[in-house]
Amino acid sequence: MSGIKLMGTGSALPAQEVTNFDLEKKVDTSDEWIVTRTGISSRHYCTGEENHLGLCTAAARRALESAGIGPEQIGVCLVATLTQDTMTPSTACVLQKELGMPEDTVCFDLNAACAGFVYGLHTAECLLAASVRKYALVIGCEVLSRITDFTDRSTCVLFGDGAGAAVVEWREDYPSLCAVMGSRGNREVLMIPGVNTGAASYIHMDGKEVFRFAVEVLPRCAKEVAAKAGIGLDQVDHFVFHQANQRILDFAIKKLRLDPEKCAGNIAHTGNTSAASVPILLDELVRSGQLHSGQKVLCAGFGGGLTWAGALLQLA
Ligand code: UT7
Repeated sequence: MSGIKLMGTGSALPAQEVTNFDLEKKVDTSDEWIVTRTGISSRHYCTGEENHLGLCTAAARRALESAGIGPEQIGVCLVATLTQDTMTPSTACVLQKELGMPEDTVCFDLNAACAGFVYGLHTAECLLAASVRKYALVIGCEVLSRITDFTDRSTCVLFGDGAGAAVVEWREDYPSLCAVMGSRGNREVLMIPGVNTGAASYIHMDGKEVFRFAVEVLPRCAKEVAAKAGIGLDQVDHFVFHQANQRILDFAIKKLRLDPEKCAGNIAHTGNTSAASVPILLDELVRSGQLHSGQKVLCAGFGGGLTWAGALLQLA
């Protein structure tokens, strides 16, 4: 047996909170529609000096502090994102300098959209097995407000900005994440044009199709992770699912017959923060004292690509 455990978490949200009532002033929408269809009441947007790197750095510092680990102990630094400040250098490389991680730290950004953080956990687990230093910093960070089309009311009310970070340690006697990952290449359902297309980099989404995809893969992914770990879903202490839409979460909870008490959510005040949503929620559980040492957390994400990923993470 070998694998990783969660040693510490951190998160950062921009100062500005944007409520549904604020959006009503510039978009043809209503608080009632947004709350009923998504469960979202407010989200945070970066303003002024705030940016992607600032959110990442703040979340990473908090995670290192809560783990009691110094930057010099990190062997792998991964940032899951699709909204980095610069295409190159990667955020992970800039963060390496910012925090003072050693030069032989493996640093890169990865794009698996909303499944990115869980993809990152599994990637860190694999890389740490071959690393001299056995700690990794895995971050999910997005500034989605910068790629939101405020003339498209069906997408602009959903997304928010934020960052979440986790410090994990690899040991031979730690349990495997038993990660399950997948992808189904699709450009039509969820797409953000890149730099070479000449089109504005805004989120284009067929909400109904994403919804169908999510309610198909999320319950299946959770079941497959538990089966791989050889446990029943009733032996999982917490489920931390990507916060995309409360109705998707309610569907999965019902289909898997999960105890809603084990399925905390924060979409009401964060909105959908893509790769950041799972680590932000993890951090909220740790800091509020709901997640205890030795407990098992089943994390799962799904999104653009299309991608999905699930993993069973244990708090050290
Ligand atoms: O992170 C992963 C990526 N994203 C997701 O997981 C999103 C998954 N999909 C969804 O969450 C939902 O499909 C949405 C929340 C995006 C949309 O909900 P829906 O129940 O699928 O609504 P709809 O697109 O079928 O629209 C229903 C009605 C339409 O009006 P008509 O044609 O019935 O008159 C829309 O024009 O609601 C209207 N509408 C709105 N009304 C007020 C769409 N957006 C809004 C809005 N405010 N913001």
